[in-house]
Amino acid sequence: MKIFVGISGASGAIYAGSLLRALDGLGHDYTACFSDHAVEVLASEAGEGDPARERVLERFAGEWGIAQLAQRTISPDEMGSAFASGSHLAQAAVICPCSMSTLACVAGGITMNLIHRVADVMLKESRPLVLVPRETPLGETHLANMLRVKRAGAILVPAMPAFYHRPRRIEDLADFITGKVLDVLGVEHDLFARWQGAR
Ligand SMILES: Cc1cc2nc3c(=O)[nH]c(=O)nc-3n(C[C@H](O)[C@H](O)[C@H](O)COP(=O)(O)O)c2cc1C
Repeated sequence: MKIFVGISGASGAIYAGSLLRALDGLGHDYTACFSDHAVEVLASEAGEGDPARERVLERFAGEWGIAQLAQRTISPDEMGSAFASGSHLAQAAVICPCSMSTLACVAGGITMNLIHRVADVMLKESRPLVLVPRETPLGETHLANMLRVKRAGAILVPAMPAFYHRPRRIEDLADFITGKVLDVLGVEHDLFARWQGAR
């Protein structure tokens, strides 16, 4: 699948790491785009180290074993990217995690960076756009923006892991969300054990 992955500045580098590792491992044609604030959050969640964009992303790729990340990463300033046009046939876009700021831009059709523009393109072309919002508690503006994007055609997969698959590691929680995103996109995976029920 040809997929654009936007990573914005909400807490939860682990969600981005899990998703990109899965797409990389499954051999999908993904392109990753980290907002400036995403890099800042990644750096703060990773702890000590050089805060320069390239170094932060190198450490992130190494930590998650995302082999192809460096050659598959595009700058959020690259508005001339093929992804910025509806004529480019990206099959889906995911914003994971999605900050309330990026959510507001998508809801309002404001395109301050490539992530917002790709989201806008996916909505206008009626192609899958999955948002993984992360914030708590949620204010009225956040909820109103979520309703607005849902009505515009986006799919919301909030970073709210379940526990019925008996997670043992923090990574299991992130893999659950990745699995839900891949389910929505129709991508097969074995990231969590599905609920079987009594029959
Ligand atoms: C350490 C840190 C954690 C943050 N966590 C969140 C969060 O969970 N959700 C959120 O909506 N914003 C969060 N923010 C605020 C966003 O980074 C901020 O609104 C930023 O403008 C988002 O820009 P972007 O959407 O272009 O990435 C956090 C900021 C920092 C520095």
